Amino acid sequence: MVKTKVAKASEVGLNKMIGVQINGKYVLIANVNGKYCGMEGICSHMGGHLWEGKLMEFVVKCPRHGSEYDVRTGKLLKGPWVPFGKAHDLPVYIMTVEGDELFADLP
Ligand code: FES
Repeated sequence: MVKTKVAKASEVGLNKMIGVQINGKYVLIANVNGKYCGMEGICSHMGGHLWEGKLMEFVVKCPRHGSEYDVRTGKLLKGPWVPFGKAHDLPVYIMTVEGDELFADLP
């Protein structure tokens, strides 16, 4: 894992999320009650951009077919509402804050 600067903490408002592209990889960064969570940003079902979905406390809902993930653990909580394709858990990344800088441990 490589500690990588991904964003400024001030860019991720309380209980909001953003998506960033780092070295060709999309990372979702969520601010859950003041704690920053980093997770793979692309839905495992059919590639939805999760940061464009809805964040409900620690649950992100995919804007395409509604799969839901826990942004703290990457666990798939609810699969897609369409009858085709499967979704699965996503990787999460340890986040650290230094001043206003956010870092993620990326593979
Ligand atoms: S692409 Fe995310 S639920 Fe289908």
